Amino acid sequence: MLLILNLIIAVCLIQLSSQDDYAINNKKFPDSFLFGASTAAYQIEGGWNEDGKGPSIWDTFTHNHPELISDRSNADVTCDSYHKYKEDVLLLKNLGVNIYRFSISWSRILPTGLPDEINENGIQYYRNLIDELKANGIEPLVTLYHWDLPQGLSDRGGFLSDEFPKWFADYSRIVFQNFANDVNYWVTFNEPIYGCSGYGNDRAAPAVNQSGVGEYICAHNLLKAHAAAYHLYRKEFPQNEGKFSMAIPVEYAVPNSTKAEDVAAAEQKMQFTVGWYARPLYAGDYPEIMKTRIAKRSAAEGFKKSRLPEFTDEEKRNIKNTMDYFALNSYTLNYIYAIAEPPITSPPTVSNDVGVGVIWPTTGDGTLGMTDLARWISKEYNNPDIILTENGYGGSSKDLEDPERISKIQNSLSRFKDALDEGVKLFGYCVWSLMDNYEWNQGYTVKYGIHQVDFSDKNRTRTAKKSAKWYKNVIKTRCLVDNCIE
Ligand SMILES: *[C@@H]1O[C@H](CO)[C@@H](O)[C@H](O)[C@H]1NC(C)=O
Ligand SMILES: *[C@@H]1O[C@H](CO)[C@@H](O)[C@H](O)[C@H]1NC(C)=O
Ligand SMILES: *[C@@H]1O[C@H](CO)[C@@H](O)[C@H](O)[C@H]1NC(C)=O
Repeated sequence: MLLILNLIIAVCLIQLSSQDDYAINNKKFPDSFLFGASTAAYQIEGGWNEDGKGPSIWDTFTHNHPELISDRSNADVTCDSYHKYKEDVLLLKNLGVNIYRFSISWSRILPTGLPDEINENGIQYYRNLIDELKANGIEPLVTLYHWDLPQGLSDRGGFLSDEFPKWFADYSRIVFQNFANDVNYWVTFNEPIYGCSGYGNDRAAPAVNQSGVGEYICAHNLLKAHAAAYHLYRKEFPQNEGKFSMAIPVEYAVPNSTKAEDVAAAEQKMQFTVGWYARPLYAGDYPEIMKTRIAKRSAAEGFKKSRLPEFTDEEKRNIKNTMDYFALNSYTLNYIYAIAEPPITSPPTVSNDVGVGVIWPTTGDGTLGMTDLARWISKEYNNPDIILTENGYGGSSKDLEDPERISKIQNSLSRFKDALDEGVKLFGYCVWSLMDNYEWNQGYTVKYGIHQVDFSDKNRTRTAKKSAKWYKNVIKTRCLVDNCIE
């Protein structure tokens, strides 16, 4: 997760409606529903240069720019999961989860990012983790890329390089050669819009240093990379039937009023954020509204071509239908209102291309749009299978009593369950996060864990918070309240 609220200026704060009259869903989750927890390599592993691992852009960035991290920290050790993975699996087992979402550190397996050198120790680490999960009946959901680009590839142009799709496919092949038999659910990229869009977490990724241009090239290359890995898998691993997705982050766009222009603005925001990635993966090309708006603004700015790159027909065919399920990360919503066409600026910006007004919700109503969000995805992409790959609560408290986290998770799950009861094909939920960890530019100041980690103790002792006990009971009873009706 990343905390972007403080990087975006809230126009004003409103409370459209309250949760007060909302009743938590009291129907049981089906036995097939997958409950789980999520983490990411850089945020939990530590062992940043151990046993042959190469540096990632986050290693370089945190070492060179501690002043850009809230507490000047880095993730050289963080939760020390590189050594403590068995304890992590024990936490998962105690929770009773069905599934664990973690990511593979590309530069732990390929120190330079390229397949010329393979670090067997890195492969062994993930082999051990996966074996430990399977021995405990926990299904792995593996993210191939969660923001820790090998430094070696960043030096070669990173996401902006035409070679990026090939680099990603070569890396994926090595992962598949080792783990295709063990993994049924793959996520290629985590929250690419934040990796590409200049919103904060990309501060480590110079790839996006070309406002209004670089973000689109980056997205274009990530979409091609996703498709390259997808087709490589289908072609070279025909005996395996793994399913692929990208983890798409959504702040559901709620129209700020019932006025037609606000409703249209909210839809525009969804197309420019979710549709930017999901529409090509389902239908082969960017949403029409993106193509027309960016082309028009590009012309007014004096660009010879649209700043939004075009896919060739072959690329469209290749990218289309490569989303086997929808991996959804969602924490909150936005209220959206129509604004006048933003002025032409130099450099251009993505937010002017989006061209809507955004209001962030006040604390407490961030879960209100989640039923509508599930409905929107279902309708927009022809009723796909959907899994929440991230949802949770971040705060600064170190307390083991965390009622706000329980409330947020309970309300989110309930709103999604309401959609499931209507026929939206939600098949799982992974809470972010299994434990407190390194929250990117926020360092250790923001905690998302249902387990506390004592970062001042060499042992990095993990302790269950109240939310972990609550979640364990939900998983056991498949129920969000004291007594469910069947
Ligand atoms: C973009 O890169 C140039 C050269 O590396 C650097 O001087 C400049 O500060 C960067 N701009 C941003 C917005 O990161
Ligand atoms: C958004 O909605 C609130 C509540 O109805 C209203 O007070 C506010 O003026 C609206 N903001 C904009 C920019 O339309
Ligand atoms: C370190 O953590 C483990 C697992 O939580 C625990 O069993 C052990 O006693 C701890 N050691 C110390 C010195 O705290």
